[in-house]
Amino acid sequence: MFVTLCLNPTIQKTLVFEKFHHAEVNRAKESFTDISGKGVNVSRVLAQLKKPVLHITQLTKEEKSFFKRELKKQKIELFSIKTAAKARICTTIIEENMSKNDNIVRSITELVENGNKVEPKTEIHLKKNFDKLLKKAKNNFKIDAFVISGSKAPGFNDSLFAELALKAHANKILTVLDIRGADLKELLNALRNNPIKADETPIIIKPNVLELKETFFANQAENSSEFFEERIKFLLMDIFEKYGILSIITRGKNSTLAFDGKNFIVMPSKKLNPAKIINTIGCGDSFTAGFVAAMSECKNFIESLKQGVECASLNALTIRPGSIF
Ligand SMILES: Nc1ncnc2c1ncn2[C@@H]1O[C@H](COP(=O)(O)OP(=O)(O)OP(=O)(O)O)[C@@H](O)[C@H]1O
Ligand SMILES: [Mg+2]
Repeated sequence: MFVTLCLNPTIQKTLVFEKFHHAEVNRAKESFTDISGKGVNVSRVLAQLKKPVLHITQLTKEEKSFFKRELKKQKIELFSIKTAAKARICTTIIEENMSKNDNIVRSITELVENGNKVEPKTEIHLKKNFDKLLKKAKNNFKIDAFVISGSKAPGFNDSLFAELALKAHANKILTVLDIRGADLKELLNALRNNPIKADETPIIIKPNVLELKETFFANQAENSSEFFEERIKFLLMDIFEKYGILSIITRGKNSTLAFDGKNFIVMPSKKLNPAKIINTIGCGDSFTAGFVAAMSECKNFIESLKQGVECASLNALTIRPGSIF
């Protein structure tokens, strides 16, 4: 069983227009409402790889049944934490125009809301339920991996992801975190005096390069890309030496940089035909799913990175974010 956690649940509204006019009334020719978010993307790709998935997120009573039904369609189980804070609603506006040679050309605009603030007891509920899940798993089923993805809604503490990751780690569960900023800094802080040892189950971080920059190189002048690659290499080695954490830094079409505890790895992205790339949103989430699925099958780090690249590339070729077919 793969356990995925995302604390910024999202309902995605997609509206399709033939023409969109600013400051006028526009009537959509089609509209869809889907569940979405980084955790849903990772869960979906894991399910597409035929892995059993339990997705944890906070939801209101009214939203729970919608999420449960939608996740069930994708063979994903839901573990919902009670809250009064509604999931944020994000809107995609797709404008479809005919090109001169009669192809449909789509322009996509994303409208993103901030998450709604959760009450303190949501975090307490989450921690209690997570403990219960780990306890239940001990005697009844194996947790293959635990994946934390994305930001969190306001109201949760910055130390929460670190706490949950360390609990999973204490239970010998492979843990991957696609987090950044204060959440990532808190994870490092938590391991400052007690780094992960070489013989323990790994904790792996997977921010993208912009998230890495924002977390560790904020306010620093832009450097040449070669120089910057060198700095990333030393940063990843430093993170391993001080905290025992392994790192993967994805960089879109540029090679992924990683440190597996022994070697610095440069894993090229696939060369994709630009005409075939439909949507690269969710490529990082698909990478995480492919990587963690392979790691759980005891493939080595490099083989697992390759499966990450494979899933990420397939995602770029599909319209739906976080999908490999
Ligand atoms: N244009 C592209 N061409 C080839 N591969 C790509 C391209 N964009 C993304 N990828 C693949 O996807 C992987 C992850 O991409 P990226 O670093 O953009 O993730 P991300 O920003 O975390 O995405 P998200 O958070 O939306 O899931 C890359 O390592 C690469 O393998
Ligand atoms: Mg990402």
